[in-house]
Amino acid sequence: MWYNADMKANNAYCMRGVSVPAIGFGTYLIPKEKTEDCVLRALGCGYRHIDTAAFYGNERETGNAVRRSGLKREDVFVTSKVWASDRGYEKTLAAFDRTMNELGFDYLDMYLIHWPESPSRTPDWEKVNLATWQAMTELYKAGRAKAIGVSNFLPHHLGALMRTEIPPMADQIEYNIGTRQPETVNYCRKHGVLVEAWSPLGRGRLLADERLTAIAAKRGITTAQLCIAWCASQGVLPLPKTTDTARMRENLAALSVRLSDEDIAAIGAIPPFGASGRDPDANGF
Ligand code: A2P
Repeated sequence: MWYNADMKANNAYCMRGVSVPAIGFGTYLIPKEKTEDCVLRALGCGYRHIDTAAFYGNERETGNAVRRSGLKREDVFVTSKVWASDRGYEKTLAAFDRTMNELGFDYLDMYLIHWPESPSRTPDWEKVNLATWQAMTELYKAGRAKAIGVSNFLPHHLGALMRTEIPPMADQIEYNIGTRQPETVNYCRKHGVLVEAWSPLGRGRLLADERLTAIAAKRGITTAQLCIAWCASQGVLPLPKTTDTARMRENLAALSVRLSDEDIAAIGAIPPFGASGRDPDANGF
């Protein structure tokens, strides 16, 4: 097993010997010109895990914030991702160099394949994903990326990669109370792959849901905290995004909220709702 939920301790998960803080700060949709300030404030609030991607266009600003924070590089866990147009062995290696140049780092904590190639686009989808993975494996073995994984991969995309020398350590998927992707989560649990949640608040869509606001009010927490604490209760690592300092603190504090079995059962009974509609096979990238 690369990752074991029982190893969650000190608010961190352990992936094949690499410790990853159990909540991360998401930077998708934070405009480039605001990113440095936002990430700097997030680090000031206590976040030690920042999630970016080449596609977000804010890697340079993320790297600047880490440097300006005065924190030691090894005390901040930074993830980035190779974009869909850079799939394949050579292109992935070149994309990684560009990412490192943007971030200004000499190693990356985790590198992910942002979206899988899929059978709906090319019959060679599995070959393409394996070629991309070969590059990821090489980056890992060279110590340039301390951990490697995927994003938006479903079980059928993961299968071939799980049979390679270094299987993915994490899968970052759309995951929240309304969008639980049980097949993928169960597959990852079974194979020791850490699941990370993008959009743990459903891009804010979950926050007005009356069933959730009622449970949160009963527990004296905010609905955002309920959503984040629920992810954590499922052994899934939430990556909430906000540009607001008070919300950064609020979201971080959710990690110490322990939900009761009754809350978890009530949430479990809510049928799926509020998904983004992005399907890795149908209209992924
Ligand atoms: P903002 O950046 O204005 O704070 P997700 O992480 O699921 O993608 O959701 C992000 C959305 O949720 C953003 O629109 C963000 O808005 C909003 N958001 C993040 N944290 C909170 C919070 N604690 N309370 C209310 N809205 C929040």
